Amino acid sequence: MPDAGVSPQPPLLEVRDLSLSFATARGALPITRNVNFTIAPGERVGLVGESGCGKTVTGLSLLRLLPPQSARIQGDILFNGTNLATLSPRRMRAVRGREIAMIFQEPMSALDPVFTVGDQISEAYRIHFPVSRAEGRERAIAALREVGIPAPERRCDEYPHQLSGGMRQRVMIAMALICKPKLLVADEPTTALDVTVQAQITDLLRSLSERTGTALIFITHDLGVVAETCTRMITMYAGEVVEDAPVDDVLTRPRHPYTSGLLRSLPGLSKRRGVLTSIPGRVPSPNAMPAGCRFRSRCTHVVAGCEQSQPMIEIESGRTARCWRAPELVLPGAVN
Ligand SMILES: Nc1ncnc2c1ncn2[C@@H]1O[C@H](COP(=O)(O)OP(=O)(O)O)[C@@H](O)[C@H]1O
Ligand code: SF4
Ligand SMILES: [Mg+2]
Repeated sequence: MPDAGVSPQPPLLEVRDLSLSFATARGALPITRNVNFTIAPGERVGLVGESGCGKTVTGLSLLRLLPPQSARIQGDILFNGTNLATLSPRRMRAVRGREIAMIFQEPMSALDPVFTVGDQISEAYRIHFPVSRAEGRERAIAALREVGIPAPERRCDEYPHQLSGGMRQRVMIAMALICKPKLLVADEPTTALDVTVQAQITDLLRSLSERTGTALIFITHDLGVVAETCTRMITMYAGEVVEDAPVDDVLTRPRHPYTSGLLRSLPGLSKRRGVLTSIPGRVPSPNAMPAGCRFRSRCTHVVAGCEQSQPMIEIESGRTARCWRAPELVLPGAVN
């Protein structure tokens, strides 16, 4: 595994100035702006932020899964040097599932109720590799075993409704990883599950990533999950990346007031200090985005100068934050 942030290898994924807008009756509605980040091969990165900050649309943009009639993407999505932002729909289909896969919060919506789970996993493989149905079934059984499903030969012939929520999410992971993609985007994969199952699925994703070398973008509002699973954390606020840092550093010393606020509202990690606060106010909506720092109306560190638009600034190697005060502010984290 490369060390977080400073990788000697060329990046697997390099997102450059990615902006997304939706066409509406009243014109283009900007959703994300100039999103920049890189993912090294095998790296596990948490993408965090409150609801509505643009995490899901960023994940969907990478796989070009947004509605083509309304979504407009600008910028570059360089995956192993190929720009996915401009790839033809046909070539994009060859990347999706094969090179980059995605799993979602609600596995039931991604599974087809009328086919067995074995058929669906097998199909995910046969789209990209021309093997017989029998071999596809063997691979599906092996994939179910890999994700810890007991009696995979029998489970293979069951329908999604016969499985528990946790088992269904395991099936989705099996389907996502059967072609050995280089990158898995997991969008809140445990949010719909109960707490003990959440921990099992999180562990499974981390161990599969470690074993297979698949890089992981773990989209979540749960910073505890990021602490346990990832080596780097990217914080999004109101459609922009506001902080990008190695997990260990950001947990102890966040550099952006928003990240600090998120960490302080995290029960598990803040408990020891006895401080548990939530950030007052709410994320501005895309059609009422303020000028200058987008976090300004909620920031307790705001001063004259914050009404200027904020670029990402490098604080130290491998650490950036979108706050001109970041170098001088000493902000509380989750672990002191
Ligand atoms: N298809 C769409 N059309 C218009 N706006 C959308 C669409 N999908 C998402 N949005 C808007 O984009 C913003 C970011 O949404 P999302 O990526 O789902 O946030 P998150 O995953 O961080 O909760 C939200 O304001 C949401 O309302
Ligand atoms: S730029 Fe100003 S308002 Fe924005 S996060 Fe930094 S201190 Fe707060
Ligand atoms: Mg989301």
